[in-house]
Amino acid sequence: MAIHFLENKQQFILNTKKTTYAFQVLRNRYLCHLYYGKKKKDILPYQEQVLNFAPYRPEFNDAISPDFFAQECSFFGSGDFRAAALRLCGSDGTGVTDFVYDSYRIFYGRRELDGLPSARVDENTETLEITLYDPVTNCRLLLYYTVFESEDMISRYMMLENNGRSKVEIEKCMSLTLDLDRSDLDMISLYGQHCFECKYQRVPLHHGIQSVFSRRGASSHQYNPFMALCTHKATETSGEVYGFNFVYSGSFLNEIEVDQLNRSRVLMGLGNECFSYILEPGECFTSPEAIMTYSASGFGQMTRNFHKFIRAHILPPAALEPHPVVLNTWEACYFDIDEKLLLSFADESKKIGIDMLVMDDGWFGGRNNDCAGLGDWFENRQKFPNGLYSFVKKIKARGVKFGIWIEPEMVNPDSDLYRTHPEWCLHVEKRIPSLSRNQLVLDMSNNDVIDYLISIFDRTFNGVDIDYFKWDMNRHLCDVGSIMLSSERQGEVAFRYMKGVYRLLNWFIQRFPNALIETCSGGGGRYDLGMMCYGFQIWTSDRTNPYYRTFIQSSCLMAYPATTMSCHVSKPKEGGKSLDYRYKVAVGGMLGYELNILEMSNEVKSEIAKQISEYKQFEHLIRLGDYYNLVSPVNHDYSAYYYVSEDQDEILLTLIEKADCKPGKTKLLNIKAALPNATYTDVFTGKQYMGADLQRNFKLLLSGEKCSAQLLYLKNITGR
Ligand code: DGJ
Repeated sequence: MAIHFLENKQQFILNTKKTTYAFQVLRNRYLCHLYYGKKKKDILPYQEQVLNFAPYRPEFNDAISPDFFAQECSFFGSGDFRAAALRLCGSDGTGVTDFVYDSYRIFYGRRELDGLPSARVDENTETLEITLYDPVTNCRLLLYYTVFESEDMISRYMMLENNGRSKVEIEKCMSLTLDLDRSDLDMISLYGQHCFECKYQRVPLHHGIQSVFSRRGASSHQYNPFMALCTHKATETSGEVYGFNFVYSGSFLNEIEVDQLNRSRVLMGLGNECFSYILEPGECFTSPEAIMTYSASGFGQMTRNFHKFIRAHILPPAALEPHPVVLNTWEACYFDIDEKLLLSFADESKKIGIDMLVMDDGWFGGRNNDCAGLGDWFENRQKFPNGLYSFVKKIKARGVKFGIWIEPEMVNPDSDLYRTHPEWCLHVEKRIPSLSRNQLVLDMSNNDVIDYLISIFDRTFNGVDIDYFKWDMNRHLCDVGSIMLSSERQGEVAFRYMKGVYRLLNWFIQRFPNALIETCSGGGGRYDLGMMCYGFQIWTSDRTNPYYRTFIQSSCLMAYPATTMSCHVSKPKEGGKSLDYRYKVAVGGMLGYELNILEMSNEVKSEIAKQISEYKQFEHLIRLGDYYNLVSPVNHDYSAYYYVSEDQDEILLTLIEKADCKPGKTKLLNIKAALPNATYTDVFTGKQYMGADLQRNFKLLLSGEKCSAQLLYLKNITGR
């Protein structure tokens, strides 16, 4: 059993393989957090202590104040002055609630999250349900803790039921609260921008509130929902690290408050700025799920916990199968595509070992540039005179699979869809909505819009043999207003928008069960666990330049496994050498190409063919192996990392020399995951290495060539 209730101590204990999470029912009323960290047997109960200026209830003494003990879920207005996890406004208009512990239940599996993506459980996964009750609003609050033992992961989400006679408004909702009895920590977050996602930031916590967030209706390029806290000296292999992430793709808020007593409150959820929600009597609201993990041995362990968890419980199972090597038409020809050209692409693709041709933007409606056509999801007959069905049949006859680009959430004002239904885009009455990339956002909170999209995609793709959809989203949400909701409910639009997107994604999965979905939002603008529940990989960034990709991919790997990272080799600038560098950086994730194959020389084409066949030998290591980050590109002139198979018999080591790398240095790398008694051979050079040397004393010479990379594919040959 992973979850226990110790009756005598009134303690809930949640155990994973290496961690313990504990809290206590205090005075039969409050939920007081006790511990999260390394696995531990005896957890000390809450020690009462008096604090001035701390409110307490008349029936208790002044040593029991909600402002004073660590909370499992904090409520606004009833004595805890720190940042609240839940703020509700009932008929009294005050925002004050005071939920009291009622009961608990432990069960296998989990409750469904009402149209939201969530981690898959198996029959051994246990969930703790805690019920609280607010006697004034008559609301029941259900807190859920699902324990993923072998991945050292605990998930949190909540449901609120309005059993009262009046409506209540949820004004702030945070799925996860973690009160830590310390603030000697650094905060790690990934910030960025379009074309440079996932920049790494590490700053010490300070008193007050620090936060990362999105108000953009998408998880965003600007701040990724992943966040970690670590001890000041934590490294890849040592120190304590707490990791967090959110299974959601819209606006979010990650808040950390360091309080008067140097304690840190971590909150993760929908927040309060882009979210509010009215519950009528009898209605129920479910929050998205947040996850957390703990490592006592540095970032590497946290990373591997996330990777293992995401592969096992978040990604669709198809993500664990070999991913096709794609040739994508975007950087190759942008909007200038047609049947004749793409059939030639397919011919060339087949010759060099590409598995799938992906037809990107430009195939539909009047889409000859980014000013028109979005929303008109039927093939452009000038470009595809024989229709999509016949075109795809011809592609397939050439022996390659077929993928197609869509951007269902958007509409160009210059489109038939907009001309017919201008009211279907997000907008606010009397205001002209802003454009971004010449497009408006469809109101995905409106079921009529989703039904329309279902019907048009159903018609256009009916019978067409599609293996893969690239689902894009190229702007953020502003002028967030919907004609479907009353003025008091407009705060629900962004959340309902996301639920509409998820509904449509679910429809695609059911309607095209054999097709894969790659998600994308101008690259990594929705690189999140919500999207990963539907898509087998994500287009990591619109920046394909390998120098920048090295940074983007390295930070992305901190939180997400390589199997999610779609990495393309784009047109090399300086011939062969650059192609090799691009390839070696791209095989940090799932390899693809994005160049005009018809313009490539025979030499380049045979180089690509060689790359693809080489990649296929070790692709399984990138997709399923354990990731070890040896040298990060941030603050170094080179970077190094490796993937290792579960049995430790195979290792793929990558060393990348950046533009500023200094020549002729030997680097000592410790490949800790090598088997000490084994002999490994490098498949490419035949050179042999002792496992013990790889572990402690492995010297690799930097070539000194700026913008170059080395790959070593090591196999255990002991006893063979
Ligand atoms: C943004 C994506 O990130 C690109 O790969 C490409 O699909 C374009 N959109 C097409 O408009």
